[in-house]
Amino acid sequence: MAAPSPDAPKRRTLYGRSKGKALRRRQAELIANALPALEIETERLAAGAPLFAAQPSELWLEIGFGGGEHLIAQALANPEIGLIGCEPFINGVAKALAGVERHRLANVRLQTGDARLLLGATPTATLSRIFILYPDPWPKRRHHKRRLISNETVAELARIAKSGAEVRFATDIDDYAGWTLARFLASPDFRWLAESANDWRTPWDGWAPTRYEAKALAAGRAPVYLTFQRR
Ligand SMILES: C[S@@+](CC[C@H](N)C(=O)[O-])C[C@H]1O[C@@H](n2cnc3c(N)ncnc32)[C@H](O)[C@@H]1O
Repeated sequence: MAAPSPDAPKRRTLYGRSKGKALRRRQAELIANALPALEIETERLAAGAPLFAAQPSELWLEIGFGGGEHLIAQALANPEIGLIGCEPFINGVAKALAGVERHRLANVRLQTGDARLLLGATPTATLSRIFILYPDPWPKRRHHKRRLISNETVAELARIAKSGAEVRFATDIDDYAGWTLARFLASPDFRWLAESANDWRTPWDGWAPTRYEAKALAAGRAPVYLTFQRR
């Protein structure tokens, strides 16, 4: 993994901006030329500065958007919504930027560091929907503390979510589904929306499949979709 970005949080960093294989020329151009206009400055966010030229009807956040397939599809389908995407993997950021450019999207803003930095900077009761889709499962017990979902994260999500907001969580790892369910059920701020026995096996309306979901399905793993509503 590459060195953390300069604005990485002081406590143990899960991820700073990180890089996989070398960016292609076009991707490097997008990072150099398109990202600056879309990148969120956390200080300005914390100060309540508007993120978009036109006030969106709602703000939605996707944490760990990977290649941006879902983020871009949501932005395209919901032009009145402001989409914030958070992803430290710079190759994924470049893919999302290509999607923004291809579709001429004006309703996407990005953060390229550890999501905890973004969560900490987001003003209270700001977000109407938060997507956490196939977060890294860290399957070994000794690595569980690295999981994005923790009691601390759940409390932070409760702080930044508006009343009635939804957190939508998907995973193909049963153990992580149980882990996440336990933490949200322990929170006084969220209730699990499971209207029928099969809800958690069915993706949401308007669902845009992600790369990791495709991998999971190809490997024969059944995804779990959990919806938590902020009280
Ligand atoms: C397993 S991938 C899933 C990507 C995408 N959501 C999908 O379904 O295809 C997990 C993603 O979460 C990102 N990630 C891991 N830790 C993160 C953190 N602390 N903040 C933001 N993103 C993170 C990783 O870089 C990676 O792209």
